[in-house]
Amino acid sequence: MRLSKRLQKIADFVPNNSITADIGTDHGYIPRYLVEYKISKLVIASDVSQGSLDKTISYIDELGLNNKIIPRLGDGLEVLKPYEVDTVVIAGMGGLLIRDILEKNKGITNSITHFVLQPMVASKELRKYLLNNGFMILDEELVFEDEKFYEIIYAKKGKDLVEKDIYYEISPILIKKKHPILAQFLKAKNYSLENILSGLEGKDTEKSKEKFNELTDLVEKYKEVLNTIES
Ligand SMILES: C[S@@+](CC[C@H](N)C(=O)[O-])C[C@H]1O[C@@H](n2cnc3c(N)ncnc32)[C@H](O)[C@@H]1O
Repeated sequence: MRLSKRLQKIADFVPNNSITADIGTDHGYIPRYLVEYKISKLVIASDVSQGSLDKTISYIDELGLNNKIIPRLGDGLEVLKPYEVDTVVIAGMGGLLIRDILEKNKGITNSITHFVLQPMVASKELRKYLLNNGFMILDEELVFEDEKFYEIIYAKKGKDLVEKDIYYEISPILIKKKHPILAQFLKAKNYSLENILSGLEGKDTEKSKEKFNELTDLVEKYKEVLNTIES
């Protein structure tokens, strides 16, 4: 099977010979890919919605993957026992939901070695949570697909230092890699920030002035990073 660019980059972070859980599996493409290409020995495919999980259950039977992919219905990591898997994929959800899932079942979270996380929004808040709660970010990827950018974070438990606040917003790993689409990503972010700023211009409330200053500062920081990667 072929994966989309986003799902392929997610799957590429899963270590060989892993035992993986795909939380919020929905269509179940990741579990299927991981077992078909023998990256994972076993995948627990879970979802909080029976309707979503049924999509996975139907192909498990059809393709005879019953001993390789185990479907489980439930909320976040509660479907797992401690040390049952070494790798967890949580993709296609908001960063705050991913954070809550990691936080809610600490016993399970602490028993997992590798985390592949792909927040749809709030990547800054997710990085902040990870870096202030005993995770280290080992690698990151950025994908552009269907007119959208997707950030993928590969993390494990450990200690990490953040040198500047802007690194919660923009991955220092992507900066260091001079990731080929990082400049495009930052320009797109700046474009939307400048649109918000023009909407705030002339507004006189304390809150709008505060927001204006905060976003102006952010635009400047993005430009600084852009200069570094384009120099
Ligand atoms: C947009 S889909 C993402 C599917 C796939 N992971 C991907 O990245 O393409 C989000 C899935 O997460 C599931 N979901 C949402 N909250 C969840 C939770 N707390 N625990 C498990 N699954 C959850 C939804 O039911 C849905 O099937």
